Amino acid sequence: MMQIQNTIHQKIQVTLEFPVHFTQNLFAENNKTFEQCVSFKEPKKQHKVLFFIDENVSSTHPDLIDSIKTYCQKCGSINLVSNPIVVPGGEVVKNNTSIVESIHKYTDKFKICRHSFAVVIGGGAVLDMVGFACATPHRGVRLIRIPTTVLSQNDSAMGVKNAINAFNKKNFLGTFCAPYAVINDREFLKTLCFRDWISGISEAIKVALIKDKPFFEFIQKHTDLLVNRDIIAMEKLIFRCAEIHLQHIRCSGDAFELGYSRPLDFGHWAAHKLESLSAYNIRHGEAVAVGIAIDSYYAEKKGFINKVQLQDILQVLHSLRFPLYYKEMQDPDFINGLEEFREHLGGILCITLPVGIGKKIEVNEIEHDMIFEAIDYLRENYNGNGQ
Ligand SMILES: NC(=O)c1ccc[n+]([C@@H]2O[C@H](COP(=O)([O-])OP(=O)(O)OC[C@H]3O[C@@H](n4cnc5c(N)ncnc54)[C@H](O)[C@@H]3O)[C@@H](O)[C@H]2O)c1
Ligand SMILES: [Zn+2]
Repeated sequence: MMQIQNTIHQKIQVTLEFPVHFTQNLFAENNKTFEQCVSFKEPKKQHKVLFFIDENVSSTHPDLIDSIKTYCQKCGSINLVSNPIVVPGGEVVKNNTSIVESIHKYTDKFKICRHSFAVVIGGGAVLDMVGFACATPHRGVRLIRIPTTVLSQNDSAMGVKNAINAFNKKNFLGTFCAPYAVINDREFLKTLCFRDWISGISEAIKVALIKDKPFFEFIQKHTDLLVNRDIIAMEKLIFRCAEIHLQHIRCSGDAFELGYSRPLDFGHWAAHKLESLSAYNIRHGEAVAVGIAIDSYYAEKKGFINKVQLQDILQVLHSLRFPLYYKEMQDPDFINGLEEFREHLGGILCITLPVGIGKKIEVNEIEHDMIFEAIDYLRENYNGNGQ
């Protein structure tokens, strides 16, 4: 008997589009950015809005909640459905699924539908957790991200990913989900502690090293200003870093990371492992600085960069006060970060390394002995900066 087999080939192309605004004093009466963000697609409608705020942002900006309430009351187009909800800040918020559940309960309680808005104000961890939670009620509600740390303004809020940690693994549960809009307000940065002011700079060094030599030179030239909390230098750094991340995600042809190559994760195999080995006491940005140092050492041994370039990289990180050695790097489990990274990529190990300054190469194998050598080198030469 003849067998009949039919196949319908389905192809759906979806365009993702969102604005990234840069502003100051977002909830000042005369600042229209937020109102326009909410209402530009449907200007005549009243939009339901529910805010989630990082507790360390609300405590360091004691007037923020009142400013939000006053601002929304004065906007005819915004219906603030509840007082802003304060959630714990920092990585702890990604380690606890009950917080995700509470976000679900609030979206149900306040009837946040697919055309309402959840707004999240906070560091990268809170953005990731609320983004993950908001991706599921009604299969996703509109999310406006308002990042408040250097790292979230120059990197994490620009992307289309979110996640929480599970089974002792960083970002094990997550979704790809573009925000409705992103708003960077530099005023938030002024209350960051020194660690969080500095830590996000490592993501800028990361993209500069693999994509933009003049940007690396800019960072080199401005380390003193950055360490001394110069807001203009930081604003420039954030803008360029955000721009490079946005461009990469837009142009790489792999926004949803279906392939193996992950250039924006340069330095991240070691970073993710270090974060989890330290029980998340080491910040993501601090761990990325170490990852960059280890992989740059490796790149020098393999002849992709020269000795002067390696010293330039290590010196920039050191001048910015990044610790480049932590005791967790001696943990026998540390090297398994490579295997976990391979699993996360989905099969083939693909590690991005710098070639000179501003270009990159991908390798599929890493010699463990050279990583151990890199760790010894960092312990012997960079065991300072507060560790
Ligand atoms: N989704 C992505 O594509 C992506 C990309 C990179 C990093 N990340 C994630 O981002 C997280 C790191 O983000 P982070 O560096 O912003 O750290 P963080 O969110 O842990 O914030 C650091 C600390 O600063 C506090 N804080 C935030 N804003 C503040 C402000 N304006 N003033 C005072 N304190 C403030 C936070 O409460 C926290 O205690 C990690 O979980 C990382 O995995 C996600
Ligand atoms: Zn990162």
